[in-house]
Amino acid sequence: MLTNLVDRVAIDEVLFADADHHPVMDRLTLWRDIDRGIYLRLHVSPGNNELIPHDHKYSFTTYILRGSYTHVWRRRSVSYSGSFTAEKAPLGLVTCEQVGSCYTLGYSLIHQTMMEADTVTLFMRGPGEQSRSYAALDMLDRTVSSSRADDSETELIEERRHTDGQRRLEFSEFVRLRSRLAALRVIDAISHTDQISR
Ligand SMILES: [Fe+2]
Repeated sequence: MLTNLVDRVAIDEVLFADADHHPVMDRLTLWRDIDRGIYLRLHVSPGNNELIPHDHKYSFTTYILRGSYTHVWRRRSVSYSGSFTAEKAPLGLVTCEQVGSCYTLGYSLIHQTMMEADTVTLFMRGPGEQSRSYAALDMLDRTVSSSRADDSETELIEERRHTDGQRRLEFSEFVRLRSRLAALRVIDAISHTDQISR
């Protein structure tokens, strides 16, 4: 079943257009309902750490298929959405997510993940609850642009998003990702669709 869903991405232009390379993982959309804002995705991590506390635009449920990670859960001490600092996101609990673990993270919660290389998860996200995601403001790098000549305020702070670097997946990258998933025994080595070429 999962093999068929992954291979369908190669022959479905709409699903393939949704595949992307994210700073901390590669993501394939296996199924989606745009009207309801529900997406079923496969996430493959190179083993990076998401050490900056962050939230998501939506609530989601994750099921771990391979690998493991340490998961730090935080909660908001003031508002239930919008920007925050680390001080306003006190520690809730720390869990170890392993193969077979399944959890739901509500959009108002904040978390950090430290993933083992080649951790693969099945990810179901719900509709957007806020216009964008947020990360702890005091833990993001900031760049200071040149002064504005017509303004007495001398500095313009540009916030760097923790999602910077996200881009669409190239087809050659998809083929390599598929091989990697097969080597990890997450999907079958042999395609049942026999149409993975462009
Ligand atoms: Fe996250």
